Amino acid sequence: EEKERESLFTLTEFAKKFFINQLHNSEEGNLIGLSYFRERGYTKEIIEKFELGYSPKQWDVFAEYALKNGYTKELLEESGLVNFKEDNKKYDKFRERVMFPIYSFSGRALGFGGRILQNNVKAPKYLNSPENMIYHKSKTLYGLFQAKQHITKKDHCFLVEGYTDVLSLYQAGVQNVVASSGTALTVEQIRLIKRLTENITVMYDGDSAGIKASFRGIDMILEQELNVKVLLLPEGEDPDSFAKKHSATEIEEYIKDNATDFIRFKVNVLLDEAKDDPIKKAALIREIVKSISLIPNIIKREVYVTETSKLLQIREEVLFKELAQLQKSGD
Ligand code: GTP
Ligand code: MN
Ligand code: MN
Ligand code: MN
Ligand code: MN
Repeated sequence: EEKERESLFTLTEFAKKFFINQLHNSEEGNLIGLSYFRERGYTKEIIEKFELGYSPKQWDVFAEYALKNGYTKELLEESGLVNFKEDNKKYDKFRERVMFPIYSFSGRALGFGGRILQNNVKAPKYLNSPENMIYHKSKTLYGLFQAKQHITKKDHCFLVEGYTDVLSLYQAGVQNVVASSGTALTVEQIRLIKRLTENITVMYDGDSAGIKASFRGIDMILEQELNVKVLLLPEGEDPDSFAKKHSATEIEEYIKDNATDFIRFKVNVLLDEAKDDPIKKAALIREIVKSISLIPNIIKREVYVTETSKLLQIREEVLFKELAQLQKSGD
């Protein structure tokens, strides 16, 4: 219902302002939240641009404040920002976390990611707003609102895993960047990018999880008829840690030298695993051809077959046969 959605938008905006105010204007927020962001090297500009905030320790500060300002218990519950227990005790969803508001394409706050302050505790590192009538995790991209004009201007979008990756790259001057926020990339997310550009470079963490996620992402992006490159970071780095260690020029250089076409990326990773094992090499070829088969455009498919043929020294003819077979069994 439209009225209910509007109320949720209003409440989420109100919560966003509350968290910002806590970060900047409360002693606890200053001491804990702001110093956390400072320690991680975020500037005042980036903190303001992304409207970062802080949720206080005590368990019902936000709930009390919202009720006092006329928001109903039902709406607070519906938003997921407050949980009410049987004895009418209430608990803020986000407590003692630094807060990252998540926006719609047009810049309305939909929900939040909240990061815990110490690593190595049992609680989850990041909490997200629960799904509600306005927030659907799989349909949002963190940073899209701030990045969209830069994506259009560069006709190119970097896709990273997390909140802090977006912040650090943005701060370093790479502003055409969005994050899938840890979830497996979805078709809806790719379509959001496609409104702005057809060129994506996936820049996931330099670990095996990141490589695996890149592989999945590549195939989905190809299916949506976009051009996809991959940028593998040095092992153990993510875009945030990498950007912190290097100057803007060094980052640009690294991107220029290391962004590879998806075919080359897959071939490199898989060849490395296959070594000289012919069975693994055959599986590798099928894996590559499978990706090519996902490309809707026939001319692009041809170009990639030629490229693969050269890279793997397999006759094009053989690749086309494999491709035809896959497409027959495909749908
Ligand atoms: P930092 O440690 O703050 O630099 O975060 P990160 O982005 O490097 O975290 P990581 O690479 O582990 O995860 C990537 C993204 O996955 C995060 O930005 C979150 O969006 C998401 N994520 C990570 N851990 C959790 C978790 O415990 N719960 C949920 N819901 N999401 C998570
Ligand atoms: Mn909906
Ligand atoms: Mn990771
Ligand atoms: Mn990471
Ligand atoms: Mn990180």
